[in-house]
Amino acid sequence: MKIDKDAFQKYDIPGPRYTSYPTAPQWTPDVTGDTYASVLNAFGQNDKTLSLYVHIPFCEKLCYYCACNKVIRPNEPKVGDEFLCHLFREIDMVASHFNRRKLIRQLHWGGGTPTYLSEDQCEKLFFKIRSIFDIDFNGEIAIEVDPRTVTQDKLKTLRSLGFNRISIGVEDFDDKVQEDINRIMPFKQMAQVHEWCRKLKFESINFDLVYGLPHQTKETFKKTMDLVISLKPDRIALYSFAYVPWLSKPQNKFNMDAIVSPEEKLDIFIQSREVLLAHSYQAIAMDHFALESDAMAHAFNAGTLHRNFMGYTLKPADEFIGFGPSAIGFMENTYVQNIKVLPEYYECISQGRLPIERGRQLTLDDQIRQWVIGRLMCQFMVDKQTFFDKFGFEFEDYFYYELEHIRDCRENGLLLENSAQIQVTDLGKIFIRNVCMGFDIYLRQKNGHKRFSRTV
Ligand SMILES: C[S@@+](CC[C@H](N)C(=O)[O-])C[C@H]1O[C@@H](n2cnc3c(N)ncnc32)[C@H](O)[C@@H]1O
Ligand code: SF4
Repeated sequence: MKIDKDAFQKYDIPGPRYTSYPTAPQWTPDVTGDTYASVLNAFGQNDKTLSLYVHIPFCEKLCYYCACNKVIRPNEPKVGDEFLCHLFREIDMVASHFNRRKLIRQLHWGGGTPTYLSEDQCEKLFFKIRSIFDIDFNGEIAIEVDPRTVTQDKLKTLRSLGFNRISIGVEDFDDKVQEDINRIMPFKQMAQVHEWCRKLKFESINFDLVYGLPHQTKETFKKTMDLVISLKPDRIALYSFAYVPWLSKPQNKFNMDAIVSPEEKLDIFIQSREVLLAHSYQAIAMDHFALESDAMAHAFNAGTLHRNFMGYTLKPADEFIGFGPSAIGFMENTYVQNIKVLPEYYECISQGRLPIERGRQLTLDDQIRQWVIGRLMCQFMVDKQTFFDKFGFEFEDYFYYELEHIRDCRENGLLLENSAQIQVTDLGKIFIRNVCMGFDIYLRQKNGHKRFSRTV
């Protein structure tokens, strides 16, 4: 499929990634630790399975482009020890609401840099989780690693604990770009880490790449792509640089002249996509690619993918719990988010309170739109009869206002529609965020619109 530049220009507007609906700007502080406690009480009495996210916020050095929630600290064991002490108290507080052991189907350690923790600290954390929860070791047990700091021994420890998926921050191999983003990592180092991961038989290796970074050009990023292809990771997340200096102050360090123009950014994306497609990768929605032989590509083709805060997943759990600063949970139709600022998170836990900063209890309309957006993002279709069976409304009646958006998407080749279904086309899969935006009632109300990065 050829991508037309006009379409890119038309759809390159600020928009959410829809890892949640309603999206984070709609979450409010009236959802508190007390709300969370009552939600946990209900969740703790049922047999629903769990997706568990642990946020480990530390990194040794700041990458200037980074928009993640992180805390920069020199690598000293006492930092990790103090963190684990609070994290374990949080885990105990949450678990005190359960009257049974819960089964984890998906476990993800993210950050920051989870491998900032020492091997001993990683083991302690894993054993703490195992002491409270059952883990399905055939599920997805994933960790994010920084290739600049991880060692072979640490990878061995992680593999022996049961981690079967690994996600590696690669971003870009060009010297000038690396210098500008303050992240020096020679290709040789990356190739070594990749070889260790292969030898340890991680079931899936993902590389994160970012396009649109300062000083990137089509030529330099083509070289990065060629080096990536030479290693053949199972999956690639090709992220559009989220330029959000109002949220992420270090991005103000970038010289505006060095920032890639929107036209060149599109060119870099289109070129990278073509390179990947020509090397046996399948495009999964907009920014994810998987080798055609990979389970994610099969699930994508079969329409059985799922999506949550951790991205696309093959093993959905019923509900989510997040531990650590800024971590998000979702259960009993309620989103909760932990306090983001580390000293405040510590203080709250020291006082014996659940460290919730904000959240959102879903209305019926939120639940309906969450379901439709979820179907569009993962199954790439909405079956109108299934919608009726689930919610008791005719699709056309409920989404009367959205019919114009659907018509517009159809005319632009993003959607197909008949009396039974709306279906996302291959082009629509690339612009899936834009397709979903038409079903987001809060964007219609223009509430929080400007707080998102651009969709392309
Ligand atoms: C938590 S980091 C990955 C693990 C580890 N800290 C590392 O850097 O290698 C998560 C990923 O988010 C992506 N990311 C961070 N800031 C971004 C931004 N401003 N725009 C797009 N992607 C970004 C990068 O691809 C990064 O690898
Ligand atoms: S990209 Fe990774 S290592 Fe760099 S600051 Fe962000 S979280 Fe830390």
